Amino acid sequence: MKKPILCVIVLSIALAGCSDKPQPSAKLPQADAAAGKIIADRDCKACHGLDGKGVAPAIPNLAGQRERYLFNSLKEYKDGRRSHAALKNMTNNMSEADLRNLAAHFSRLAPIASVETADVKHSSPYEQGKVAAAACAKCHGEDGNSKIPGTPSLAGQQPHYLVAAIQEYHQGDRAKGAMKSSLRESDKLELESMALYFASQKPIKRAEATFGDPKAGEPGSAMCGGCHGAHGVSVDAATPSLAGQDAEYLMKATKAYRTTRKNWGMQRYVAGLGDKDIENIVAYYAAQTPKAADQVPTSTQELAAKCDRCHDQDATPTMAAPKMKGQDKDYLVMALRAYRDDKRESSTMHRMSFPYSNAIIESLASWYAGQPAK
Ligand code: HEC
Ligand code: HEC
Ligand code: HEC
Ligand code: HEC
Repeated sequence: MKKPILCVIVLSIALAGCSDKPQPSAKLPQADAAAGKIIADRDCKACHGLDGKGVAPAIPNLAGQRERYLFNSLKEYKDGRRSHAALKNMTNNMSEADLRNLAAHFSRLAPIASVETADVKHSSPYEQGKVAAAACAKCHGEDGNSKIPGTPSLAGQQPHYLVAAIQEYHQGDRAKGAMKSSLRESDKLELESMALYFASQKPIKRAEATFGDPKAGEPGSAMCGGCHGAHGVSVDAATPSLAGQDAEYLMKATKAYRTTRKNWGMQRYVAGLGDKDIENIVAYYAAQTPKAADQVPTSTQELAAKCDRCHDQDATPTMAAPKMKGQDKDYLVMALRAYRDDKRESSTMHRMSFPYSNAIIESLASWYAGQPAK
């Protein structure tokens, strides 16, 4: 089977991370904020400012951040679990008490005023995707429900699969046909946004097949169900749903795996099927009720609610997770990509952010950066 494209949009895994109970943190020993201020004014102000505000994009604000988190992250730089050359050098020579004092100092500074964050532009992949999807409406329908026989619907389709499919047309791995004229080199962010937009739309069942016999196809569908899901509703982000899809398209696509279209799993399963078998199985899938890809959130706010379980300062005052509201946007983007790409360790955050596409990361970061810091 083709290697799945990692780092795309496997939201279902992301949400699985939410079943972890937030762990309340223990009390820190007494710290001396005044002693911390002396070190901060000497060693940290060039980058984090006297007021704890990052002096340039991608330098985090420290003012009003949770004390325990600040201490933990400083210790991680010192121990080499987080890499940043300047911070590693500085913390190397510091005692644990120094780190505690620094954490106490920065956590007591007033959070950075919201006026400065109000103009962070919030980008929503869903809205951007909708704009980009207008170019596809003529054939695939405005909401991804096509009415043209032979043209697949995209509404409710698995987002990871959509991205892969569009890339296959781009790369020439799939015969373009009608898709040719409509494809231009869209950047990755736009592509993922479009996929998220289509995935979050409600799919409408297409016309029943004018060929084949759904009843006769049902037993044969058993060998497809392991990957494509019960009744053709896929629960795997990289495997397309087939339920209620256009019959003509399904037939053409299935047969294509016997000849031109490449996919190790698919080729193996359809190689031995005759035309009649395929027609019956396809007729069966076309007759099933489609269902949108599971757990594709339809707004950034809905997604952020999952993060606030641990990150919201009011809801979880004892958590060791950092506050994010009002944080520097570029820094948040960098941090999330670092977890996702395995460059920053945190088992919790890794589980949360591994599946996030650049479009979602951009959107979450801009949303949090635009919220007033408290
Ligand atoms: C040369 C610029 C520079 C200096 C000086 C500097 N920092 Fe930083 N600091 C950064 C950057 C850049 C990051 C983000 C690094 C990363 O991605 O891990 C950071 C991250 C941090 C973090 C993690 C914040 C978070 O939200 O995860 C803490 C805590 C921190 N610095 C504290 C300090 C302290 C305390 C000092 C002084 C002893 C200091 N820094 C000096 C540039 C600097
Ligand atoms: C001129 C009509 C037309 C336009 C415009 C068009 N498409 Fe298509 N699209 C098709 C047809 C026809 C197919 C089936 C092609 C095939 O058999 O491989 C298809 C297939 C696809 C598939 C594969 C679906 C699957 O289930 O594998 C995706 C994804 C897709 N199009 C996305 C898009 C996007 C995104 C746009 C807008 C940027 C777009 N299309 C614009 C006609 C069109
Ligand atoms: C081993 C897992 C697996 C099995 C079993 C399997 N498929 Fe697939 N199928 C996939 C994957 C993965 C893709 C996407 C491949 C790609 O990107 O071309 C796919 C794609 C398809 C497509 C293209 C859908 C589209 O929107 O373009 C059709 C149609 C299809 N399968 C039908 C079937 C049928 C019918 C069977 C049973 C005879 C079957 N599959 C069995 C994994 C499987
Ligand atoms: C189960 C609790 C939990 C959930 C849910 C959670 N996080 Fe985290 N997050 C943490 C912890 C703990 C850390 C500190 C990890 C470390 O030290 O690297 C963290 C760190 C971060 C950081 C680094 C911030 C900084 O200042 O360096 C970012 C960014 C972040 N999370 C974003 C998110 C987003 C976005 C979501 C929702 C999609 C989310 N988190 C959901 C617990 C959680």
